[in-house]
Amino acid sequence: MTNLPNIAVLGATGVVGREILSILEENKVEYNSIKFLASARSAGQTIEFKGEKHTVVETTPEAFDGVNICLASAGGETSKKYAPIAASKGCVFIDNSSAFRMDKDVPLVIAGVNDEDLRLHKGIIANPNCSTSQLMLPLKALDNKYKVKRMIVSTYQAVSGAGLKAINELTDNIKTNLVGMPYEPSAFKYEIAFNVIPQIDTFCENGYTKEEMKVTNETRKILHFDENVKISCTAVRVPVYVGHSESVSVEFENKIDASEARELLKVTDGVEVVDDIDNFVYPTPKDAAGKNPVYVGRIRNSIAFDNGLEFFCVADNLRIGAALNTVRIAQKVIEMGLY
Ligand code: A2P
Repeated sequence: MTNLPNIAVLGATGVVGREILSILEENKVEYNSIKFLASARSAGQTIEFKGEKHTVVETTPEAFDGVNICLASAGGETSKKYAPIAASKGCVFIDNSSAFRMDKDVPLVIAGVNDEDLRLHKGIIANPNCSTSQLMLPLKALDNKYKVKRMIVSTYQAVSGAGLKAINELTDNIKTNLVGMPYEPSAFKYEIAFNVIPQIDTFCENGYTKEEMKVTNETRKILHFDENVKISCTAVRVPVYVGHSESVSVEFENKIDASEARELLKVTDGVEVVDDIDNFVYPTPKDAAGKNPVYVGRIRNSIAFDNGLEFFCVADNLRIGAALNTVRIAQKVIEMGLY
């Protein structure tokens, strides 16, 4: 048992952290020991995992001593502080935050899409942004066959992507609206109940938000696209608890046919085609919540682009968009002996 890794989950008390724990319970990840880290606020609390009670430990540099793999989801500032410390102690730090994603020494990986990039890690591995993540499995399969030339994405993103405070705000906001009381939002700029907000993260100089630029830049990095592949995104927050949806228009170099693309996606690992308009069958976030696949429907030839394909893509943002991919990366790191 000695060569099995010692694992730590950093941010174990958060929304994504808890999802990591439930996926670790479902999946066969073999380890020697496991510990749960959070801030001083929750140190001493108890977490039940695989039927045993564990005490939450405060995150300090010493907490990484002897840890081989850390699955981290505790925000960018915490990662910036602790990832280099963990890496210097020989720990492979799998980070959910955006802190290191575009760092050239940090592989940005969707398990099953660009696993070979993991071999280049120097102690830190980044998990892509949730909107990018769910798109990579179908897009990689389509790119292999048809070669992406240009892509336009519009997202409809659930509030859980913004953490526990945002989830509670949606509930409180709905309740207040229903009794006709005024509501002062704090997690969002505007009321999210019965509304949509076309801003996620802050604005960049080019008028896009950081969230939108993440889709452009992270897609390029993961799929090894050069600057000639044009990608544009509009990211919108919607009053949904779990499950991001995306409307995707892609122009390809090669001739594409929707029925052939549908058959290709049907045999793509991690993707489930839910597409039968005659029977009103297409994916919705409610169906995707709590599940692992990326669901794709509304697949059709584009009338806007030659060699274009339109589709609607839905997934559990806390799973493939965060916790599931983090656990899958940890599994690959173990399988490939990269710790
Ligand atoms: P804590 O529960 O002690 O605050 P969410 O995104 O759902 O708000 O979760 C954030 C996670 O990151 C929580 O587990 C939180 O722990 C943890 N966290 C936040 N700040 C720190 C920090 N400075 N050091 C370690 N963990 C942190």
